[in-house]
Amino acid sequence: TLKAISPQDLAGQKVVVTLGPTREPWDGVRFWSNPSSGTMGACMAMAAYLRGADVTVIAGPTSLDFPSGISVVPVTTAAQMYDACMEEWPGMDIGCATAAVADFHPVPYGDQKFKKADADDLTITFKPNKDILYSMGQSKRTDQRLIGFAAETNSIQEAAQGKMQRKNLDLIAANDITQEGSGFGVSTNAMFVLDKNGRKETWPQLPKTEVAWRLWDHLLLD
Ligand code: CTP
Ligand code: CA
Repeated sequence: TLKAISPQDLAGQKVVVTLGPTREPWDGVRFWSNPSSGTMGACMAMAAYLRGADVTVIAGPTSLDFPSGISVVPVTTAAQMYDACMEEWPGMDIGCATAAVADFHPVPYGDQKFKKADADDLTITFKPNKDILYSMGQSKRTDQRLIGFAAETNSIQEAAQGKMQRKNLDLIAANDITQEGSGFGVSTNAMFVLDKNGRKETWPQLPKTEVAWRLWDHLLLD
């Protein structure tokens, strides 16, 4: 249960949290993105801050604001988020990747606005973005810890296990985005949580604020 006074069990820990969507421009006015609001990441950042951590947020485009005690690095594209993360990660103790990073970006049309009269139909080519969390996992030191999230529509447990191993994570929280009350645009999440020590838990639908609090509890178990 939540206590009115926060334990300072993350005091002295430098924590970086990625959050929100990324936005991949195509022409002068259009972009590729997703409906992430950044809420889960904001809850992770706020919980860590209340528990005494030094928190840096690397935020894609959202409508969120943070207290002045949290430093915010605003970014737009996945490439910018990658660069910001690579810059911050060596100085951090814990990384938490909640961002809904676009897996691909469109090959840009240019800075001009595309005019509908120029085409009868439209085909856009997409190229892959770098996996930020994978890169953080590759360069993770033994004194650093990494939390990942996973958005799944099927075989959640297997998918989460695979992502935890491939990305060299300490903890992963997966949600079924087909479930009402989980994922984009809602204030709750129902998580399957798995850690590198083999602990597996299925949590009921909970407010994202409480999911965040429990995830920090879980990370601090070992
Ligand atoms: N992630 C990231 N950089 C990317 C893609 C994902 O840092 N380019 C992070 C997310 O922030 C999340 C985790 O990786 O913590 C898993 O993201 P998810 O989209 O569920 O998995 P992917 O590895 O992208 O695979 P897929 O979308 O095909 O399921
Ligand atoms: Ca993805």
